[in-house]
Amino acid sequence: MAEKTFVGEIEKALEKTKGLDMNELLFSYRGTLYPSTVCSAEMFQALETFESRIDDLVLVSYPKCGIHWLIQIVNDLIATTSKTKAENTELPFLECGDPEKYERMKKLPSPRIVATHLHYNHLPKTIFKNKAKVLVLFRNPKDTAASFFQFHNNVPSIPSYNSWEEFFQQFMNGQVGWGSYFDQAVTWNQHIDDENVLILTYEELKQDLVSGVKQMAEFFGFMATAEQIQAIADRASFEAMRERSQETHGAVGPLLFRKGAIGDWKDLFNDEQNKEMDAKFKECLTGTKLGVKLKYDVYCKA
Ligand code: A3P
Repeated sequence: MAEKTFVGEIEKALEKTKGLDMNELLFSYRGTLYPSTVCSAEMFQALETFESRIDDLVLVSYPKCGIHWLIQIVNDLIATTSKTKAENTELPFLECGDPEKYERMKKLPSPRIVATHLHYNHLPKTIFKNKAKVLVLFRNPKDTAASFFQFHNNVPSIPSYNSWEEFFQQFMNGQVGWGSYFDQAVTWNQHIDDENVLILTYEELKQDLVSGVKQMAEFFGFMATAEQIQAIADRASFEAMRERSQETHGAVGPLLFRKGAIGDWKDLFNDEQNKEMDAKFKECLTGTKLGVKLKYDVYCKA
């Protein structure tokens, strides 16, 4: 049997999506849609056996908010400060893979990176009970939607939407993988001041990556020097990550690390869609702490 590798696991998952249409790709579990190729009811049942550790590094973000960026930085913080690099052969997300994954995870040395796209309400309760630290990354909703659409329509094996208009409506209705961006944001806003929770934004990282890496190091308790923080930020620039993407993530790498910019939504949104999303943001997030942090007026006004 071929040796299990991280890139191999990604490629296997993508292979399974070949030829599926959107209705076959997405299945509903407890009212939320997930891709059937990497998630299953059995997986969610097995997830109930997952036991968190106090030193787990939990990374949460809605799809396309930049979780692979966080994973790179936190992995690098571990490697830089402990001089060890654990070989990871699992799909990067807690809820993706096969039900035996949680047994294998028990054997992983600390600190473990636990990345997930799950809604706050669906995270294993053991994470909070055992006081693991939870770093959450959000991105402005317009770029998130644009990136999500491009990912579906650019990766050859993943089913494409017929049009941006179709995707936009599904996104607004929360009928996409991992559910509604707005539900996730509204719930995280209620937990923004919780102990052991830090929320950062994609845009903050884009503006000042060194400061973002420093905040992550302080939050998780990594003793990194200023030079080390700078080197980690350099290795996590979009250009550096895109250049290595084929090696780190296989053929899908360059499609995953697509553009890495703020404001790409402007090429897709029409006036009506802008109005609809502006109204939704207003209804859900304007005036809230997370709403302020997302700087909607700066990044999302047409
Ligand atoms: P685009 O499609 O807009 O380029 P996720 O990791 O959650 O799937 O998110 C993917 C998005 O994050 C992609 O956005 C990708 O380019 C962007 N991204 C990944 N690494 C990045 C980096 N180092 N700097 C800026 N953006 C990055």
